[in-house]
Amino acid sequence: MTVYGSFPGSRPRRLRTTPAMRRMVAETRLNPADLILPAFVREGVREPVPIGAMPGVVQHSMDTLRKAAVEAREAGVSGIMLFGVPEDAKKDATGTAGTDPGGILQVAIRAVREEVGDELVVMSDLCLDEYTDHGHCGVLDADGRVDNDATLERYAEMAQVQADAGVHVVGPSGMMDGQIGVVRDALDTIGKEDVSILAYTAKYSSAFYGPFREAVGSSLTGDRKTYQQDPANLRESLRELALDLEEGADMVMVKPAGPYLDVLARVAESVDVPVAAYQISGEYAMVEAAAEKGWIERDKAILETLTGIRRAGAQMILTYWATEVAQKLGGAR
Ligand code: PBG
Repeated sequence: MTVYGSFPGSRPRRLRTTPAMRRMVAETRLNPADLILPAFVREGVREPVPIGAMPGVVQHSMDTLRKAAVEAREAGVSGIMLFGVPEDAKKDATGTAGTDPGGILQVAIRAVREEVGDELVVMSDLCLDEYTDHGHCGVLDADGRVDNDATLERYAEMAQVQADAGVHVVGPSGMMDGQIGVVRDALDTIGKEDVSILAYTAKYSSAFYGPFREAVGSSLTGDRKTYQQDPANLRESLRELALDLEEGADMVMVKPAGPYLDVLARVAESVDVPVAAYQISGEYAMVEAAAEKGWIERDKAILETLTGIRRAGAQMILTYWATEVAQKLGGAR
């Protein structure tokens, strides 16, 4: 007698017999539109500068940044997240270059908008760490601690100059309390109600940011444990999530992605706004390094990491492989 639901009547392998069959029943699909490209632009360089710990990723010159944006758009990538790398001499205690309308990030936003118009969503990192001489995401108080509320004033100003430069989405990534509300107010005050906020909601203090420090020439010596989340905590993310939504986040993000898929899944099932995940520099570097040694198959590993992040609930993924993967996905159909 055949009992439905158990062997030998039920054979899950039937749906794995051919590539076409597997493709048809796949529960998770990757599309170029799911992908957002993070990009670094360095002040004062004519040629792109390779980032040693991120083979294949560069600090762009303004010129190659424009090209990378166009290339991403042509591949079908949805957005670009811009990070500015100022000249060392322009770093100071309060991150002045971050709020200078002529600062590197603002110049880059204008250049990319000029190149892609509205066809690519232009996003900017809203954080002070690239611009401070101590490398922290905020300003410091007399005791050398990151001063939350004083930092919020800087973020408000940053949001306004980035919006003035033409950004579509700001990404506050400093993990200060109250940052989403302050940024929303600052934008609305200058009539930028249409600029949206991608909140770095659950951002963990992670060892996997290592290569990013090189990418932005970070001046940080300590760590960010007093503002970024402890990797041990999941419920705390849900608290951060509730606050960000209440303060006006349009989209939320979990970061890093790979080691935090449980957090991503919980966040994704808890909200009705779009959810993003950031596959960060260390996640990128691990795959590239292992592949370079011939220890894993690079292209398959990349797709598997991205599929896993999608499966866990991310609608959008920030990944340094965005353009390459989008090109391959486009070509395969
Ligand atoms: C802060 C910021 C960081 C990253 C994105 N935004 C660094 C940090 O929080 O230490 C990391 C991205 C990556 O590692 O790829 N401006």
